[in-house]
Parts: sequence; C-alpha cells; structure tokens
Amino acid sequence: MNRVPTIETERLILKGFTLADAEDVFAYASNPNVLRQTTACPPQSPSETEEFVRTLIDSPPGSFAWAIRVKSAPRVVGAIEFDLGDGHIGSTHYALAEEYWNKGLMTEACRAILAWAFDEHHNLEAVKTDAMNVNMGSRRVLEKAGFECQGTREDRWAKFHESVQLAVYEITRKKWESSQPAGGAYFLPGAGKKSAHP
Ligand SMILES: CC(C)(COP(=O)(O)OP(=O)(O)OC[C@H]1O[C@@H](n2cnc3c(N)ncnc32)[C@H](O)[C@@H]1OP(=O)(O)O)[C@@H](O)C(=O)NCCC(=O)NCCS
Repeated sequence: MNRVPTIETERLILKGFTLADAEDVFAYASNPNVLRQTTACPPQSPSETEEFVRTLIDSPPGSFAWAIRVKSAPRVVGAIEFDLGDGHIGSTHYALAEEYWNKGLMTEACRAILAWAFDEHHNLEAVKTDAMNVNMGSRRVLEKAGFECQGTREDRWAKFHESVQLAVYEITRKKWESSQPAGGAYFLPGAGKKSAHP
C-alpha cells in the first residue's frame, strides 16, 4: 500500500480514500453521465463501489488515488489517480460528480497532482494519458493543465461494441516546468507551500 499524501489547493482537499468514502463515490459514480466516456461502468450497488474503493486503498506500489473534496462541501465529489508506471512515464485518470463540472475543479486537481508528481519523483520524465476523442471536457482539462495532444489511436473497451477513438496526451517535465507558475502550486499540510517549479 502507498502512503498517499494529503494535498491542498485553493478550493480542494485531495486525500487518500477510506472505506467510509464508498457511499459518496457511489452517489456520484452511479450517475450514468459520469462514467459514460471512461472505461468503467456505473456501479450497480454500494457494495460494488466498496470493492472499488478497497482496490484504490490497496493500490500497488507506484499507484496513488486521492478522494477529491471541495472545501465548501463535506463529502467526496470525485477521484484522481496517478500511476508512476515504470518510474519515467506516469499516467493520470479522474472523474468528478456532475454537479461540480465546469468550475475548473479538475484542472485544479490535475495541476496539483502533476506538481506533486514531478516534485516527488525525480526520475519522472513525462505524464501520458488519453481521453475519448469526444470527451471534450476531459481533453480541455488536459490542455489547461499543460498537456499536448500527440495524436489519436484506436482501442477496444469491453463496454462498447465498437472500437473507441482516443486522443493521446503528454506533458513532459520540461513543458511542466516551463508552464509554471500557472496554478501548479500545492500545499502539503504541515510542509508549507510547494510547487514543482517555484
Ligand atoms: C472530465 C471532467 C473530469 C472535467 O472536470 P471539470 O472540473 O468539469 O473540468 P474543468 O472545469 O477544469 O474544465 C472543463 C473544461 O471543458 C470544457 N467543456 C466541458 N464540456 C465541453 C464540451 N462538450 N465541449 C467543449 N468544451 C467542454 C469546459 O468549458 C471547461 O473549459 P473552459 O474552462 O475553457 O471553459 C468531468 O467532466 C468528469 O468527471 N467527467 C466524467 C468522467 C470523465 O470523463 N473522466 C475523464 C476520463 S478520460
């Protein structure tokens, strides 16, 4: 199991999951709009969500998952994951409760995770991820966080009969550092304000 640091941004607190968060995760993830353009299917029951949260808590070394809390609301409203991969090329994935979309929150979370990732993992050269071509919200988050689109690729996802078209994104350490300080600052409670590139 990884030690997942608590990260604070202007509007968010990102914290490792506990099983008590499963109820909140079920509340947002069972909305079919939330997982529609991801590899996952909406959970059918709270116990299925509890199993999912358990896998996040027991993530293997190099995989980190944060529960997203808006400071103004007491519950978990989303999740963001970071996987260190081979140590050089990481990846990230995320989802947010629909009522919080389009307020810049996931961009804020994504920037904070990138700042932490590049800061804490000195061998990390780049973070890559992809989004369905049609997932304009996610693509915009990546672009606002500094990712660049590398092109598209086709993939098969079990939940769709047809193949899916994915837009492939990457942000290199150099690009991240040159795009600072565009909101990448984050705060590890007790450790003072940090940024990947002060
Ligand atoms: C994708 C998601 C995480 C975005 O989170 P968010 O907090 O709403 O993102 P932000 O507010 O930081 O940015 C969203 C941007 O997308 C834009 N956007 C949203 N829907 C859009 C659409 N259909 N077409 C064009 N732009 C769109 C918004 O206008 C905003 O851009 P702007 O700030 O330039 O106006 C959220 O919609 C979500 O959880 N979706 C379901 C799960 C998912 O798809 N996860 C990603 C899998 S790859």
